Amino acid sequence: MIKRKIDRGEIVKILKQRKEISGEEIAQLLGISRTAVWKHIKTLIKKGYPIRVSKKGYGLLEKANYLFEEEFTEFPLKVYYFKEITSTMDVARKIAEKGEEALVLAEIQTSGRGRLNRSWISPSGGIWMSLILKPHLDLTSSSILTYVAGLATALSIEENTGIKVNLKWPNDVLFEEKKLAGLLLEVQGEPDKVKYVIIGIGINVNNLISHIEKGAISIREILNQEVDRKKIVITLVQHLKNLLSLNREKILSMWKEKSSTLNREVRVITFDREIIGRALDIAEDGALILKTEEGIQKVYSGDCIHLRASV
Ligand code: BTN
Repeated sequence: MIKRKIDRGEIVKILKQRKEISGEEIAQLLGISRTAVWKHIKTLIKKGYPIRVSKKGYGLLEKANYLFEEEFTEFPLKVYYFKEITSTMDVARKIAEKGEEALVLAEIQTSGRGRLNRSWISPSGGIWMSLILKPHLDLTSSSILTYVAGLATALSIEENTGIKVNLKWPNDVLFEEKKLAGLLLEVQGEPDKVKYVIIGIGINVNNLISHIEKGAISIREILNQEVDRKKIVITLVQHLKNLLSLNREKILSMWKEKSSTLNREVRVITFDREIIGRALDIAEDGALILKTEEGIQKVYSGDCIHLRASV
């Protein structure tokens, strides 16, 4: 028998298609030995896949909703999955320093981080991911990444769940003014070149959040059912890559169309001031343009609170 490298993902795929299948049949389908199949099955069980082993063969016990590496067989990036870590941002930074582009996923984060030094509640059931990319951008143009990531997240949620979402400047995905997802960006580089960017994305998917955090909601709480997290991750990364090939103007116009911040009274709290005004537009450099009592002002980052419904 010719030896070939078997991706464990192929075995998972087969197990998902069949209620029960013998080790021999898997071995034949993949052109490997039964012992090799058993070794892979043992590893999968150790990882947490609920595989039933009987005399007749193997069967996957539940409809799987996992984010293990084996779920991402035809994915353009290397995937690192962890059952529990402090934050995907911490691990992603170490991987990024080695020069790799990759996706880091965690089932649980024990010290999930939000923007402005807030903590991010990350129990099992959500999507907690950090994407490491090396885009050809200089530091000033990297502000576009916030818009790209927000849009990709919104589009992927909409396509996979049918829920209609909005974007709140700068980094939130909302469902009827409740926070469904948030983004955290870390950019490393010199002024003229981005070395790497880590796009941290947290989506409340199958976890329950509204009783813990007022103003937040999960997809399961909206739909009353669990959804496939893997599909959301895959579509999100596809959108993100496609959006990165568009020009700035197009990206900003798509973002504006989905935003519920524009044409509305807002309060923006930055590190040194608080501005109240009407959100008019997003400038080419990524700033939010506000009409205030003191005139037109631009803000580049901060906490934005929607004050009144848009008119
Ligand atoms: C925010 O809205 O304040 C941003 C939240 C970002 C949360 C994600 S979850 C995955 C990644 N790891 C973290 O620790 N934070 C980001």
